[in-house]
Amino acid sequence: MLKLVILISGSGSNLQSLIDSVHKNGIAKILRVISNKADAKGIQRAEAAEISTSIIEHRDYSSKQDFEEDIVKAIDAIEPDYILLAGFMRILSNEFIAHYPDKIINIHPSILPAFRGLNTHQRAIDAGVKQHGATVHLVIPELDSGPIIQQISVDISINDDAHTLANKVLKQEHQLYPDVVKALADGRITIRDGVVYTQ
Ligand code: GAR
Repeated sequence: MLKLVILISGSGSNLQSLIDSVHKNGIAKILRVISNKADAKGIQRAEAAEISTSIIEHRDYSSKQDFEEDIVKAIDAIEPDYILLAGFMRILSNEFIAHYPDKIINIHPSILPAFRGLNTHQRAIDAGVKQHGATVHLVIPELDSGPIIQQISVDISINDDAHTLANKVLKQEHQLYPDVVKALADGRITIRDGVVYTQ
């Protein structure tokens, strides 16, 4: 069974979809949820599912290094197979990423390599593209640029604004992330030396 740690900063709706799916199919176990915000709704979701939580707030630390050292301690106590970022809104240092080769996975709300960074939904509308979506990818030091694991797309309609588009994408994210975890658990996706292999 895959051992997972999930890092969040906010609502945790992706966390919820992961909780629900691993609960149902029993292919993975979420051993800890770590939030850099004490008031993240995702913490309540984890507690409701009886998953242990750590609140490690970046603003309590004078340096990023100290902040990340405490995250590393919380993760290393568990030795997870994968560390899933699910709406985790801090940029991780190169040192942190190097500590977990082939193990850190992120979900990003765009069809990468388009729209790296923030405000992806509004930027997609402003750019006039007809499709938008989400990407699950391996994390490398360069932001939102690691090897792509799986993507989904949605059509942008003339009536969409950033809010309706975000909801459309999020709904698909809730399918995408659990699908990737299942594929990792089944061995249909493997990650080795920074390369993603899909069967
Ligand atoms: C999701 O749309 C996720 O893709 C995005 O934040 C949202 C979190 O929602 N992640 C990023 O923007 C990462 N840079 P959630 O807290 O309800 O899962």
